[in-house]
Amino acid sequence: MNGLDRVIHVRGVTKTFGKGDAAVHALKGVDFDARGGELLMIVGPSGCGKTTLLSVIAGTLGFDSGEVEVFGHSLHTMSQKQLTAFRAGHIGFIFQSFNLIPTLSVLENVTVPLLINGVGLKEAEDRARAMLEKVNIGKRGDERPTNLSGGQQQRVAIARALIHEPRLIICDEPTSALDKDTGQRVMELLSSVARGPGRCVIVVTHDNRIFNFADRMTEMDDGRVQRVHENPSKSMAGH
Ligand SMILES: Nc1ncnc2c1ncn2[C@@H]1O[C@H](COP(=O)(O)OP(=O)(O)OP(=O)(O)O)[C@@H](O)[C@H]1O
Ligand SMILES: [Mg+2]
Repeated sequence: MNGLDRVIHVRGVTKTFGKGDAAVHALKGVDFDARGGELLMIVGPSGCGKTTLLSVIAGTLGFDSGEVEVFGHSLHTMSQKQLTAFRAGHIGFIFQSFNLIPTLSVLENVTVPLLINGVGLKEAEDRARAMLEKVNIGKRGDERPTNLSGGQQQRVAIARALIHEPRLIICDEPTSALDKDTGQRVMELLSSVARGPGRCVIVVTHDNRIFNFADRMTEMDDGRVQRVHENPSKSMAGH
């Protein structure tokens, strides 16, 4: 694998929350890789460490030991300021809980990553409108996110994650609140984004209706990666 192929390289990563009797060993030595041009899924039971791993890769959560490299940069060698700039430039994150800003309109929420990256307001709004159309929610731009249903909020979160065309898109249960057809459309959009050179989409999911979109499937359990399947539509048949 050359440097461009290896988008994410995680070795022996541990993360413990709390101390003493209350300690939760969320990651117990995770090895994980993602390649350029792929859509990689992560599956595993509730509480096995999936969201913790995504947060470590996105640089929003520190880890206790091990190595995490994203696009060839070691996260633990970056200052907080470098990490924030790196994240804003290269990573789109769709959170399990959406994390939309309630005091901003839908359109304003989607413009945020562009404004952070120095795009002017007019262009940011035009691009946000086009992206909201793509996720089929173009008419709701002026409303507050709290007026929208869970599935509609999820699509706004997806639009926000894609708007600045990040090289790495990290999605925590992106279709959990969506009906089958909308979920398929969202996955088609994520798949097409993943095909770009040096790009990568990572999807944590429990939704077996979308497993066929994965190039590879990583199975986690009990704070570790247990198995990686190539071509899961074949090897995961029957799951
Ligand atoms: N901020 C935190 N403080 C304390 N414990 C935490 C924290 N975040 C996660 N944990 C614990 O770490 C473990 C892994 O949590 P994580 O959220 O990564 O699981 P998950 O695989 O994403 O589960 P789910 O499928 O339910 O989203 C769990 O036991 C959880 O309770
Ligand atoms: Mg989770």
